[in-house]
Amino acid sequence: ALAGRASGVPAVRPVDRPRRLRATSALRGLVSEHRVHPRDLVLPMFVKEGADAPLALGSMPGVVQHTMDSLRRAAVEAAEAGIGGLMLFGVPAVRDAVGTGATEPDGILNAGLRALVEEVGDAVVVMSDLCLDEFTDHGHCGVLDGAGRVDNDATLVRYQDMALAQAATGAHMLGLSGMMDGQVAAVREVLDRDGYTDTSVLAYSAKYSSAFYGPFRDAVESQLQGDRRTYQMDPANRREGLREATLDLAEGADVVMVKPAMSYLDVLADVAEVSPVPVAAYQVSGEYAMIEAAAANGWIDRRRAIEESVLGIKRAGADFVLTYWATELAGWLR
Ligand code: PBG
Repeated sequence: ALAGRASGVPAVRPVDRPRRLRATSALRGLVSEHRVHPRDLVLPMFVKEGADAPLALGSMPGVVQHTMDSLRRAAVEAAEAGIGGLMLFGVPAVRDAVGTGATEPDGILNAGLRALVEEVGDAVVVMSDLCLDEFTDHGHCGVLDGAGRVDNDATLVRYQDMALAQAATGAHMLGLSGMMDGQVAAVREVLDRDGYTDTSVLAYSAKYSSAFYGPFRDAVESQLQGDRRTYQMDPANRREGLREATLDLAEGADVVMVKPAMSYLDVLADVAEVSPVPVAAYQVSGEYAMIEAAAANGWIDRRRAIEESVLGIKRAGADFVLTYWATELAGWLR
């Protein structure tokens, strides 16, 4: 008798054998349902005003705050790797209550956008972060009222000015990440009024108030005390994610996004199922930091974990993914 099989027990013969299609790498490749392509990847980048050398970020190994020159070089490298887009964040030298730097034509973000457009032209989609948090001295995504609360409607006016300043740089897609009610409609209205009908809007529709933004706040030297729970979404809410996306679609969003990615794949799948426009997802700084930290300790296989994490986001329904690994991952995929 064979070891482990009691004599007299008949052999079991399954009829369905899914393993048949997993037998070789060629078979697995042929039948795989989802793939990641370099064009599906968008690289978030940081440019710091007045920096004379790129500054490494302790909580995001491999990510830097760029100088204007290193920004240009990294953009070219990303374009050569074949990625789909670049998303730029600015780190200003001076901040104030209303985020004046965000709307100055030569503010660090607008200058950086102009540099990116100059380097990559129409070969890669240049995206801008449209939010005040990097530019305010209190660190909130909007302006405050007399009681210190974020004033939704006053903030919309600032976003409109920011949108016009960013559109004037030639940026292709504006990333509205502030989570103010009515922000997509407000921005779309002034863009159309001033003739920027081809500038598209990526709405951070379902953006949750998340612990996973921690390393990003170092990257932009955030001044925030407290949290963003009065405007970013409650992690407990799934149905509301769909509501936010639906509102943004009605207001004219060209793309809707879910953020963070990993802890919100259910929301991403919900939105992807009904959205008539492309759906993006943001693999945020904390997701990046966790994998880098575990890999640095030898606890997980870095490359496999990166590939699996991004593939999972695509499988859940994202058409494209913002990830700090965009350039490196695109290189592996080619
Ligand atoms: C706000 C903004 C944030 C991120 C992108 N845009 C931070 C926040 O909402 O506090 C986080 C991105 C990341 O963690 O990688 N402008």
